[in-house]
Amino acid sequence: MNTHRNSIPLMLMLSLTLSLAMGQKRLELDVMPANGNMLIGADYYPEHWPEPRWETDLKLMKEAGFNVVRLAEFAWVLMEPSEGEYDFAWLDRFLGLAAEYDISIILGTPTAVMPAWVARKYPSALATMNTGQQIEWGARKNNCFSNDDYRRLSKGITGAMAEHFRDAPGVIGWQTDNEFAGPVCYCDDCLHTFRDWLKDKYGTLEKLNKSWGTHFWGHKVQTWDEIHIPECDSEDGSWSPSGNPGACYDWRQFNSWLNVRFQHDQVAIIREICPDKHFITHNLMSFHPEVSYYDLGEDLDFVSWDNYPVWAGPDIPYRASMAADLMRGIKQKNFLIMEQTAGPTGWGVFWRNTRPGEIRKICYQQLAHGADGQIWFRWRTCTAGREQYWHGLLGHDGKPLRRYNEAAQVAEEYRDLEKYIRGTTVKSAVAIIYDYHSIWSLWGQTGFEGNNVQDAIARYYNAFFRAGINVDLVNTDTDLSAYKLVLTPDLIILPDKLAEKLTAYVENGGVLMADCRTGVKDEHNLAWERTLPGALSPVMGIEIEEYGSITPDFSYKINSEQLFEGSMTATHYIDWINPKGAEIKAGYDQWHLDSFAAVTRNEHGRGSGWYVGTIAKEEAFYDGLVDAMLRDAGIEKILDLPAGVEAYLRQGSDNTLLFLINHTEEKKTVKVPEGKKELISNSLTGVELELDRYEVKVIKL
Ligand code: GLA
Ligand code: ZN
Repeated sequence: MNTHRNSIPLMLMLSLTLSLAMGQKRLELDVMPANGNMLIGADYYPEHWPEPRWETDLKLMKEAGFNVVRLAEFAWVLMEPSEGEYDFAWLDRFLGLAAEYDISIILGTPTAVMPAWVARKYPSALATMNTGQQIEWGARKNNCFSNDDYRRLSKGITGAMAEHFRDAPGVIGWQTDNEFAGPVCYCDDCLHTFRDWLKDKYGTLEKLNKSWGTHFWGHKVQTWDEIHIPECDSEDGSWSPSGNPGACYDWRQFNSWLNVRFQHDQVAIIREICPDKHFITHNLMSFHPEVSYYDLGEDLDFVSWDNYPVWAGPDIPYRASMAADLMRGIKQKNFLIMEQTAGPTGWGVFWRNTRPGEIRKICYQQLAHGADGQIWFRWRTCTAGREQYWHGLLGHDGKPLRRYNEAAQVAEEYRDLEKYIRGTTVKSAVAIIYDYHSIWSLWGQTGFEGNNVQDAIARYYNAFFRAGINVDLVNTDTDLSAYKLVLTPDLIILPDKLAEKLTAYVENGGVLMADCRTGVKDEHNLAWERTLPGALSPVMGIEIEEYGSITPDFSYKINSEQLFEGSMTATHYIDWINPKGAEIKAGYDQWHLDSFAAVTRNEHGRGSGWYVGTIAKEEAFYDGLVDAMLRDAGIEKILDLPAGVEAYLRQGSDNTLLFLINHTEEKKTVKVPEGKKELISNSLTGVELELDRYEVKVIKL
């Protein structure tokens, strides 16, 4: 056995700590380097197949035009069968073979599944549920992130892998762990770590009490050890948890920080041992709310994500498009698809199969939005384990059939497009703020029923999608000056500094849109003592003295002479908006709401502020609104799109590429700029272009 002892000597650990403390900056690597090829491949598990099959698989990958696999992210016990004893021989053999086929390697640190020996030897490494019961070993993602032994073992295997594979042929990068988030652990270690985190944050109990508002219900704490983990989640979601909202808000932030710290431990080791040679990335889960991807992304060269848009339907994959824009927004750079839908997905039950052409257009949608690499999950459907029904490009039978052929077609086309795509990214005139603080504030205390940031954003986002407009999803600290239109849906947490920034943005000529529940709370999750929309009142030219939810059995008519034809339906929530200088763009047809506005626009400084005080049932409401805001911001639509066709632009210094994707199963005709080169068919465009079902075009403008 190729074994060696635990490989991180003390001196190395010391120098790691030092270089981190000095906060050295390094140059980040990109998914597609200027002189390298696009990564196209599959997630592969050599440990799932008899060794003689490896070569067959690699040969098939090579024939399909693949050049990369991701490996080992669940193979901890195979690499470290007992503490400090490492066995990489099986992986070395696979790497040697992969090198013969020019297949590069992304290695996963395997900490998303602890070996059974870890649980046996260090039982407190297993997380504890909020019932106080410890999770049984046997699934995955079942570790406590505060546990010192688990952190030490994680650093141990990471260091051993980094040393062993530093110069291994074909290794180009790393994926940390797998899909960070959870489990949220309620053990004593986590409680103590939470208390320490709070001490760091607040310094004094006086500050903590003030921030949490513990004068309510007599919840003042007088010693640090009186602090407990707040009850922030109801058992089944059917009633409100009773924990203090300030404490819950900190608990969410703390749990995000735990994940980021855990990753940081691994990143520091890999960077020290493999400096500048390998990229480090992580596979994100789009809108998963537990971990701040902005914080997690800081340690990474670029982010990757796992895209599974095929469940029910077929339907228009708005969410995959919006997710891609967030993934690009995390580090404001292009990303990698680490896991891409390859067939029917599901654990206990599986959902529908990808139809002919669908695998391909799923890929192109991501390419259009900034994916610079494409890896399918998984190569071949595993015959064993919980994911027996999560299908790969190949079925259980291992034959290269329809789905494999479609992936090979994508790879071939991508190779031809590579030279045009290199150096391009998405540039947008529209930004939507995506804020974890607001997400954490609304979690467990949504205000009106069903309220959440992702859905709030989607209402507007989908209208931009239908209008064929590029959109960036960005953090609150992003420089907004390059954007002509900024939206802040559901921005419930509005610290003064952010309000000042948004105000300055409008004063300097920007168009800003805010909506329901904006500016209700401060940075501690305490409600402002202000009339809504709080600090944004002057920009919006309105005051909202009252508001209420609209229960599912009610709705009100929204009327507008400017935004849409006919009337629309207000649901869920309503701000009783008093215009104070703002122009009324829409109002209500309802006796007690007659004097209030539904949508307003206010000129402020050199720009304007739009406010939307309800949630409309109809898409047409948002189409009309988005259209009016685009005109207000001076943003021109490039195309008039038929329903179900997506248009997106990637731009670089040499190329502007227009992607057109037909997400429907009907033929669609689009008017396009004439005489331009369509790169897939290598032909010139006429005035119109026909897109067959699921067809994709890439036009060089
Ligand atoms: C996630 C994980 C994979 C796999 C798939 C399918 O995306 O990262 O390991 O489990 O889901 O369940
Ligand atoms: Zn714990």
